[in-house]
Amino acid sequence: MIYLDYNASTPMDPGVRAAMLPYLGEYFGNPTSSHGVGVPLRKAIDTARAQVASLLGVSADEVVFTSGGTESNNHVIKGVAFALADKGKHIITSSIEHPAIKNPCKFLEKLGYEISYVGVDSKGRVDPDEVASEIRPTTILISIMHANNEVGTIQDVPEISSIGREAGVLVHTDAAQSCGKIETRVDKLGVDFLTIAGHKFYGPQGVGALFIKKGVTLDPLHHGAGHQGGIRAGTEPVALIVGLGKAAELAEKDSDHSHVANLRDRLHAGLSEGLGDDVVLLGHRTDRLSNTLCVGFRGRIGGEVMAGCPDVLASTGAACHSGKAQRSATLAAMDIPEEVAFGAVRLSVGRFSTEAEIDEAIGKLVKAAKATPVIG
Ligand SMILES: Cc1ncc(COP(=O)(O)O)c(C=O)c1O
Repeated sequence: MIYLDYNASTPMDPGVRAAMLPYLGEYFGNPTSSHGVGVPLRKAIDTARAQVASLLGVSADEVVFTSGGTESNNHVIKGVAFALADKGKHIITSSIEHPAIKNPCKFLEKLGYEISYVGVDSKGRVDPDEVASEIRPTTILISIMHANNEVGTIQDVPEISSIGREAGVLVHTDAAQSCGKIETRVDKLGVDFLTIAGHKFYGPQGVGALFIKKGVTLDPLHHGAGHQGGIRAGTEPVALIVGLGKAAELAEKDSDHSHVANLRDRLHAGLSEGLGDDVVLLGHRTDRLSNTLCVGFRGRIGGEVMAGCPDVLASTGAACHSGKAQRSATLAAMDIPEEVAFGAVRLSVGRFSTEAEIDEAIGKLVKAAKATPVIG
């Protein structure tokens, strides 16, 4: 099998696994216990917190561990909404966010909050001026993703942050896809909140973190004991947190992304050579994650192309409901014509991808696309 779905989930790095193993065996107990069993666990959590903080360029006490990207996003959207309800009930986000942002926003709409969804251009870019023009006296939060999960387009988060700062509005970015792939230092991005997810950068599934800028308060979602300063109650999953910390340490060391960028470009060049204009790049050509190649196989259904090469593993952008293909929300927001959007396939490479795999995948994808019937 050729795994080209690193944006869905990455394999765990062997170094991460090795770091976690002692915490699945010899070390046990509750990290809040002050006795001999709890102390090493607390130290391990502190180390992991420092590793994540170092990757993000923030203080350790600004990092809260969560169960992943979905929880971090829910915590920001609802936590700010509840904490600042007296100031206002208006949030600005984009039309291409992950469901882990979109759906908490929809939930708040049912509670009487108003959400503005700014659009994107055909490359998937949000215009920061449009964000600025949506700000009202009642706006309490701007949440714009750092990089899109489907097409990989990177947003101008520093500019959006400075717009928020000037207007006195808090800014969040969902960096679940960008963390470990491009720089996600908060001093560069300027945000008040930032989401990361372990399994997107070679860490374990079920753990993530939320950066919360010092001095900013938001309501907790989990009410319980006083773990993590009362911001996120629940006994910390030590092994998962240790794994996340190690993944962060490895990501900070592995800042040269030319390996994945070269493989992504090799894949694109090979598909273009084999299929010519029948393969269309979706997303921004340059302001894009170095590992992400989203293409539309013109006139085809993406799922049918992939069914023709079942050992190449990737995600398709068009869902087929009751026999009728539908554009993904992101491709619809980018106004990609159906003829191309129905054929969308997201190919994402990573740390363990090889040139040989890419060359084999090119051959199989070209053959499968040629064999896939063109829709009327
Ligand atoms: C941009 C983005 N945000 C959030 C998530 C959700 O993260 P998790 O799977 O850790 O809950 C994902 C995962 O697909 C994502 O791509």
